[in-house]
Amino acid sequence: MNLCMIGTGYVGLVSGTCFADLGNRVFCVDKDKNKIDKLNSGISPIYEPGLNELIKKNYSVGRLIFTNDLKKAISKSELIFICVGTPNKKNSNDVDLSFVFKAAKEIAKCTKNKKILITKSTVPVGTGDSIEKLLKKLRKKNIEVISNPEFLREGEAIRDFRFPDRIVIGSNDKKHFNTLKKLYQPLISKGANFFTTSRRGAELIKYASNAFLATKITFINELANLCEKANINIEDISLGMGSDSRIGSRFLRAGPAYGGSCFPKDTKGLVSTGEKFKTNLSIVKSVIKSNENRKKLHTEKIKKILGSLKGKRIAFLGVTFKPNTDDMRDSVSLKMIPALCKQGSKITYYDPTGSKKNFKNIKNCKFKKSIRETCYNVDLIIIHTEWDEFKSLEFSKIVKKKSFSIFDLRNLYNQNQIKNKNIKYYSVGRPNSN
Ligand SMILES: NC(=O)c1ccc[n+]([C@@H]2O[C@H](COP(=O)([O-])OP(=O)(O)OC[C@H]3O[C@@H](n4cnc5c(N)ncnc54)[C@H](O)[C@@H]3O)[C@@H](O)[C@H]2O)c1
Repeated sequence: MNLCMIGTGYVGLVSGTCFADLGNRVFCVDKDKNKIDKLNSGISPIYEPGLNELIKKNYSVGRLIFTNDLKKAISKSELIFICVGTPNKKNSNDVDLSFVFKAAKEIAKCTKNKKILITKSTVPVGTGDSIEKLLKKLRKKNIEVISNPEFLREGEAIRDFRFPDRIVIGSNDKKHFNTLKKLYQPLISKGANFFTTSRRGAELIKYASNAFLATKITFINELANLCEKANINIEDISLGMGSDSRIGSRFLRAGPAYGGSCFPKDTKGLVSTGEKFKTNLSIVKSVIKSNENRKKLHTEKIKKILGSLKGKRIAFLGVTFKPNTDDMRDSVSLKMIPALCKQGSKITYYDPTGSKKNFKNIKNCKFKKSIRETCYNVDLIIIHTEWDEFKSLEFSKIVKKKSFSIFDLRNLYNQNQIKNKNIKYYSVGRPNSN
């Protein structure tokens, strides 16, 4: 099939490339000329394991086309996927749908023929209805609107695309299910569950899934606070609970507050949708509040570990919200680093995906090119992101100071082994970790 992906970010680029790899011809369009130029010169604008190779393979045989020419891309495509960003509005839980509506208007302008427009972006309940209304107003009754939310995870995105737990298609017209089934057939044949529902149903499934996972994380994080006070190991609780198949072990590991490009904005977006439909989603509201509080708890704990923050040298290992991605959106480090610098700390940080423009203007925050340089002379090391390369470090050889502490937000190290080396070690939800 011929497809057009509008928005070549984490979702549009990965799913477009993977669709091309299944034998489709895919036009990836972005309004960001720089991104398209980079892609046409063989450079991926994002870090995602395995993506570069897959782009090269499909680009070289002409199945993957990167362009700013929306009109041409649309004229050649049967299915048009909207993959643009849907952030929250400033200081609000509401979702900013301006990119989605702008893309829909541009599609309308570019075509006279029959087309299927598919929202892959995460959009609140009723967005498909609003796009349909807009298209009617523009006299474009020949464009059908379908919902196909995306569930891939950054860092595992290619695997998630190829082996999804389910493919969700929402349409109020059953005849479109077959078109989408044909597109996804190679994945369905390998066992993916093809699930069809109403358009609004599909829109809600995406928000409900993310809000539920955020709830699971927040639940175990709050229990970790209790474990620290009651001298219990949270890891035993995670294992004991998670082995119950009704509960499941995933997303049940205590750590820092959740962050990233989806959970923070989607929990807020769901609350805002609840309000629009006059429904109080009190559980999701309290998850958001608990998660916000948790970010403050981290900083308070660091203060407790170091006594005062003034002049203290702190190293961050990893600053992205999770490993195997360069995405900084809503990463906890964005709150922690400025707060610590403001109180007089001097921060060095290392991230395998390089320096971050988010910290460029913070006076006492410097990127270092290696773990060794980052930790050389520090009072405290904060293990912020769970990259493999942080899992077996010999801290006593890396840090030149006689006395230093580690705050392991990911519980990567065995407490007893590390304490035997005379290092002050703090982790999350384990006995004596507060
Ligand atoms: N990132 C994830 O892990 C993930 C997972 C599942 C779902 N989603 C959802 O997918 C959507 C996209 O997320 P993302 O992380 O890929 O965003 P992103 O910010 O990485 O990419 C969006 C891209 O759209 C482009 N764009 C915006 N308006 C455009 C227009 N009119 N024409 C052409 N290009 C345009 C932007 O330049 C940008 O490159 C969001 O709704 C998000 O919630 C994201």
